This record gives sequence, C-alpha cells and structure tokens, in this order.
Amino acid sequence: MMTRLFSPLDLRDTTIPNRVMVSPMCQYSCEQRDGLATDWHRTHLGSRAVGGAGLVMTEATAVEPRGRISPEDLGIWSDEHADALRPITEFVREQGSVPAIQLAHAGRKAATSRPWDGHDPLGPDEGGWAVVGPTDEPWPYEGEAPPTERLSVEEIESVIDSFRTAAERALNAGFEVTEVHAAHGYLLHEFLSPVTNTREDDYGGDFEGRTRLLREVTQTVRDVWPDEKPVFVRISATDWLPDRESWTLDDSVRLADRLGVDLLDVSGGGIHPDSRPEQAGPNYQVRYAERIREETDLQVGAVGGITTPEQAEALLANERADLAIVGREHLRDPYFALHAAETLDATEEVESPPQYRRAFGF
Ligand code: FNR
Repeated sequence: MMTRLFSPLDLRDTTIPNRVMVSPMCQYSCEQRDGLATDWHRTHLGSRAVGGAGLVMTEATAVEPRGRISPEDLGIWSDEHADALRPITEFVREQGSVPAIQLAHAGRKAATSRPWDGHDPLGPDEGGWAVVGPTDEPWPYEGEAPPTERLSVEEIESVIDSFRTAAERALNAGFEVTEVHAAHGYLLHEFLSPVTNTREDDYGGDFEGRTRLLREVTQTVRDVWPDEKPVFVRISATDWLPDRESWTLDDSVRLADRLGVDLLDVSGGGIHPDSRPEQAGPNYQVRYAERIREETDLQVGAVGGITTPEQAEALLANERADLAIVGREHLRDPYFALHAAETLDATEEVESPPQYRRAFGF
C-alpha cells in the first residue's frame, strides 16, 4: 500500500525520506555543563535515526550560554560545539535520515535545574546566571525569581548575531535543516507575545514591533543557510490565554507567510504558568497546523499527542499537515517509524537497517 507517512517530502533540494520527524526534546545530559554533545546525545539521536525517522531534530541547542534552559543543555556557541555534533550528523545521514538542529534561546525561562532536580531557578552559587527578556519582568516563579535583565537594542543585535554564528556552525557540523525555536515561552516567543512584550521601542508595541525580532532572526539564519537547504520555525500557535491580550491563532496565520521559511512547526503554549491546552489527548494541537496550512502557502508540521501510526497517517492523508512530528512516543519507542511501516503495511517503502532486518521481518 502507498502511504502518505512513507512518501518523501521535498523541501528545496532536500528530500526527507518519510514524514516522521523526531520532535526536539531536551536531554539535560551535558554533565560537564559545557553544552558539548556527549555519548548520550550520540546514542539518543543515533537510535532514532536507526529507528527509521525521516528527520531527526536535536533538542533546543543554545546559541549562547545564557540561552540554556538548564546548565546541562546542548549549545552551539563555539567551533568545539560544532565538532562535538559532527559525528552525530554523519551517523544520522549514514542511516538515511536527515539531521536537523533546533537553534534556541531560553530568554527569561533560562537558568533552571533539570526536571528531575526540581526545575527550579538556579542562583549564581548553584550554577545559575542573570537571564534576559524583552523586559525585566521575571517568569512568575512561586519563589524568588532570578534577576531578569531587559535587552537593549544593542544587545538584541548581538542575540541576532548569535543566531547567525550558530547557524554557520550548524552548517559546518553537517546539519541539513535548521529550525528556529520561537515557541513555548522562550526568548523569541517572549518578544511575539503581548503577555511578555510590553516594550515601546521598535521591538515591541504593535504586531509589527513584536514580530520584528523573529523576522530578523529568521532572515539572518536564512541568509547564511544555503539556498538548497530548508529552514523551519517552531511557533506556539496560541498562548492559550483567552482571558487576556495574548498571542492568538489569528496572529500566527498573519505572521506565517511573512517568515519566509519552508515549513512551520506548529506547537502551542508556554508563555505563562496559566497557559493550558484547550484540549488534551490525541492530536491536541493538530487543528492549529491545519488552519495555518489552509490559509497560507506553507508546508506545516503537526505536533502534540501523535502516538500511533494510524493517527500519523490519517492526519497526513487528510491533508491536515505535511509532516508528523512525534515527541514522547519516540522516547518510548526509538523504532516508531519502523513499527509504523509494519503496522501500515508499508515495509516496501522504508529503508530498514540490515542489522535489524531479521527482527523486523523486512
Ligand atoms: C520537549 N519539548 C521540546 N520542544 C522544543 O521545541 N524543544 C525542546 O528542546 C523540547 N524539549 C522537550 C523535552 C521533553 C523531555 C519533552 C517531553 C518535550 C516538546 C516536544 O518537542 C513536543 O512538542 C511535545 O512533547 C508534544 O509532543 P508529543 O510528546 O505529544 O509527541
């Protein structure tokens, strides 16, 4: 049977061999707190490439040290960081998958301990640092918040520059796709949303001002990324805060075509502790991707609550999205794509690792 899930997706000159993407997921596993990829990242990302996913995306990879969520996050702020990532991109390619990197800055949500250590803000004596945002208003922590500094226009320019050099290094490390992380309440989302951006200068105020930083970052990344390779952006399609002035799905539709990207990765929420999904369970964010797809010329990726092959196939076949982005199910099952090929009777359409063929029966 010809499936949609195992049909290739062509973006510029890049062919993604199937439409399963490993969603970016922080591993909090740079034990030395230096942002350098470790054996954990090589094994984790490598396994998912062996497992058949068409595109394997790294976790949020910080463009500068203060842009890490936790001190154990991956970074790409020096050539040494690119060198540590290169074996991963080579291995992912050897498996027939496309290596992709999510470039990120955590803004005012940076400098916290990892989830299994409590996800609390870290003071300077615990390895924390002063975090930055569109204003000096901190994330509303229950306890004491770390000092939050408002970025000046000169500092904003330096953040844009950090994205530029990060993209250059990502290319040098062998990545094929780069994704700008503008979702989940991190720095670029903090500028988009009126909940967090109350600036009155060129980077705040109206829709034009609030979207300026993301548009400039995306343009900068696009400028250094080769013409034949795709750029993605991940957004939170809505803040899920209908009771106040916030970023809405209408705003996302309005912004989407102006970003000049090849694919929009459509997520949601994260800007404030009150932000809660409108819907839970399977496909809980797919309708945002669907609406953006309908109203723009963009290809879109849907993420959130996609856990079964049938579900992934249906949302693609019904033209609700172009790429099925699978997060937590990939933590449960690194071989999600190979299992999906078996379930959907699509084993002819997928390259399986010869080492594992006897087990998978194809
Ligand atoms: C995430 N998520 C996430 N998102 C992102 O854009 N960058 C990131 O680094 C991370 N890190 C991360 C770590 C872990 C452990 C989880 C579970 C999630 C969000 C993730 O990519 C995805 O959008 C959500 O998990 C929803 O998709 P699933 O899990 O329902 O398929």
